[in-house]
Amino acid sequence: MNHILKSKKVLITVGPTRESIDPVRYISNHSTGKMGFALTDALLREGADVTVISGPCINVSKITPENIIKITTAEELLVEAKKIYKNFDIIIFTAAVSDYKCEQISAQKIKKKENELTITLVPNPDIAFELSKEKQKQQLFIGFALETENGLYNAKRKMERKKFDSIILNIQGEDGIGFGYDTNKISILNADDSVLSFDLKTKQEAAMD
Ligand code: C5P
Repeated sequence: MNHILKSKKVLITVGPTRESIDPVRYISNHSTGKMGFALTDALLREGADVTVISGPCINVSKITPENIIKITTAEELLVEAKKIYKNFDIIIFTAAVSDYKCEQISAQKIKKKENELTITLVPNPDIAFELSKEKQKQQLFIGFALETENGLYNAKRKMERKKFDSIILNIQGEDGIGFGYDTNKISILNADDSVLSFDLKTKQEAAMD
């Protein structure tokens, strides 16, 4: 077998992030990390030297624990990624980073009351955008876009803003596609405007594509 990624150093962000509300509650999303870990296995099979930065989810890949950096929040993800990303040839952003965090995390568990509860959310850093500011010429950045509408348009805008060389689009809401499923239906958009579309298949097969 021709290992096309032999000796390439690949950093991949995987899974959701969590933003605390109080000591017992958090904001997150339905990401399971399945797509990111399927990609991790595909990368390992192709001979890459892989490092994962993972949010709270189960490692279902063959990568060894010493090659996984565990984080909880978007801020922690940014700190860890910033420390090491310059040493990598390829960075793949599969993590479903929470776009917002609580302005203040309550030190005590918030008590139930009769009236409404308002929580003020403030934006989280965009990891891919922050790293793109010092992207090196030889580095490849690959992004993901999980859209519910205007998929191609939104994915293309994200690719440009975050200096992705390619972006993988999937449409949440169609059966078998996106968060939690074992299958995915992807389109790969490249910076040169070419688009490759694939059928519904397992996340392992989609990762090889
Ligand atoms: O959330 P959005 O659709 O903009 O995500 C597009 C890409 O940017 C994904 O690859 C995701 O991992 C990355 N991203 C990120 N940091 C964020 C939000 C998204 O790295 N705060």
